[in-house]
Amino acid sequence: MGRVVVLGIFAADLAFTAPRLPHPGETLLGSAFALGPGGKGSNQAIAARRAGADVAFVSRIGRDAFGEMSLSLWQAEGIDTRAVSRSDKPTGTAFIFRPEGSAENAIIVVSGAAGDLNAEDVTPDLLDGAGVMLTQLEQPYPAAQAALARARAAGLVTILNPAPASREAAALLPLADYVTPNESEAALLTGCRVDTIEDARAAGDALIDLGAGCAVITLGERGALFHTPDRSTLIPAMTAGPAVDTTGAGDAFNGAFAAALAEGQVPFEAARFAVAAAGLSVTKPGAGAAMAHRAAIDALIAARA
Ligand code: RIB
Repeated sequence: MGRVVVLGIFAADLAFTAPRLPHPGETLLGSAFALGPGGKGSNQAIAARRAGADVAFVSRIGRDAFGEMSLSLWQAEGIDTRAVSRSDKPTGTAFIFRPEGSAENAIIVVSGAAGDLNAEDVTPDLLDGAGVMLTQLEQPYPAAQAALARARAAGLVTILNPAPASREAAALLPLADYVTPNESEAALLTGCRVDTIEDARAAGDALIDLGAGCAVITLGERGALFHTPDRSTLIPAMTAGPAVDTTGAGDAFNGAFAAALAEGQVPFEAARFAVAAAGLSVTKPGAGAAMAHRAAIDALIAARA
């Protein structure tokens, strides 16, 4: 089984629950607050590790309390942090708005120290013996581009989770064996609306035309569309209980998908495994803390067999 290398950011998630977002100039009373680990890269590294992979994380953090929080977390999870460096800039943070009575969220993320990640952070020794490279786009594109290009040259499978997405990110698609957008990210990358499953299939074709090997489009409560030039199959969502918080569901999916590919699962089964992991993650509050463990993923898949 090859190691999973994840490039990305850690953010301390500051989650506020309130009836609505305040307008500029207004102060609003909220009803709950939680501080927890986040950042898409870190969440995905935890998800891959809990799904059973050996994981190395590449990032930058500050010399501050949130940086210490991230190091303790990764140590407890058993994630290799030799490629995490420290800088004088602050560790990443995210403002998470959770509307009262809803599992939805709205996020502002500040990458902080990880906003300086660049091609030099992706050193060749990281890729020795590794099986899968996974990155998102909360750090600068040149770092993501170097990670995908070096990983591909070293024979790793590459996964691009284009989040947050922009039209420019389409330039990275030829470096991705798999691209894993949600509906809105797929729409931004391709310029197509993605409302229906047929729209998602058209976006999948466009992503492959733009250079991706395979598109796996996550569709929230509808599951995920596994789309290759030869096959387009909707994998229905697997619910494991009431959804309390959807923050990080995409990260649960991506980390588990990378872990399953690294252990040699065939790609379609790896995507099913990832759908189960995402279904489990939404039943718990928070992002990094809600990533699913292997035993629970296997049990959910067995229950749906
Ligand atoms: O994908 C969810 C994550 O996005 C949150 O944990 C937040 O930190 C942002 O990076």
